[in-house]
Amino acid sequence: MRVLGIETSCDETGVALYDTERGLLADALYSQIAVHAEYGGVVPELASRDHIRKTLPLVDEVIKTAGLVKQDIDAVAYTSGPGLLGALIVGATMARSIAAGLGVPSLGIHHMEGHLMAPLLSDEPPDYPFVALLVSGGHTQLIRANAFGDYCLLGESLDDAAGEAFDKTAKLLGLPYPGGPQVARLAEQGNPDRFSFPRPMVKHPGLDFSFSGLKTHVGTCIRDLSSEGALSPKDKADVARCFEEAVVDTLVIKCKRALKQENVRTLVMAGGVSANKRLRERLQSALGQLGAEVLYPEPKLCTDNGAMIAFAGALRLAAGESDPDAPEVRARWPITELEPPTASKKGNQL
Ligand code: KG4
Ligand code: ZN
Repeated sequence: MRVLGIETSCDETGVALYDTERGLLADALYSQIAVHAEYGGVVPELASRDHIRKTLPLVDEVIKTAGLVKQDIDAVAYTSGPGLLGALIVGATMARSIAAGLGVPSLGIHHMEGHLMAPLLSDEPPDYPFVALLVSGGHTQLIRANAFGDYCLLGESLDDAAGEAFDKTAKLLGLPYPGGPQVARLAEQGNPDRFSFPRPMVKHPGLDFSFSGLKTHVGTCIRDLSSEGALSPKDKADVARCFEEAVVDTLVIKCKRALKQENVRTLVMAGGVSANKRLRERLQSALGQLGAEVLYPEPKLCTDNGAMIAFAGALRLAAGESDPDAPEVRARWPITELEPPTASKKGNQL
């Protein structure tokens, strides 16, 4: 089955074609960074308008790259939440219209299930159960995945997500949006021992996170430094490095705790922050010492993309699930409300 995947939940238009027999056939991504950069963050209305402009050209592009024609598409999957409502509606409307035009089923996919499935696009996917660390701009979650669609939330951020903390720190450092990759780049030259930032909630039992206090510490540190004059490039690199170490330390401690608690040996990492090199290195070495392994997708599949939606869609569509008649998108949507795929959700047979 060949599934067209469409991702439009935030500021990236991602489109891909996934074949259940041949794997990923083609994927294309358009980033709206330039559109939002001058505002210092995502402007929802501009995001919706840009998705309208880019989705169909990207659909044409992936079909051409895969050497196929539209009629070769067997189903269409799209992100139906969580995300920016207007942006989701654009993707849902386009996807359902394409599906209706071709006379094939469509299916709305949970954005975080897409992220969760991205590491499974590899040639050697992990066996269930595993623990997943989902770290994006909107979410920081530890999830036990018992099977596809059977997820148990072990812990999550009580305030800012890890990616949000990176983005806010970038802003405090005067770096352009989107901040995470910029902070990570700057941190490479920084001294990890110059400032001591807190490792939030590591002394609390449990698996929840909190990153807003860390951001306040970074803000205070930057204010103190600026009282002595403008921050030097070295000051900025040192702040970035110490901040990154604090986030990475916190995530590593909680991941180790989650694996021990769940008695599981595999950690899967996904979402934009999982592209962070330092986090990957530190998790690999810490889990290696525990005799556990960490799996993460290639960097382009860590951030938002169409491939993860096409793939998660293919797994559900192949099990017989498809959209109800009325379009359904949700701005807020806990991943734990998902269930394993079932053909009874709608009888639209492939
Ligand atoms: O998964 P994603 O593309 O979009 C959401 O679903 O939110 O994640 C975007 C987030 C942003 O906060 C971005 O700053 C962060 O991931 N990010 C990074 C890195 N690359 C992206 N954070 C730290 N280091 C990176 N290399
Ligand atoms: Zn995402």
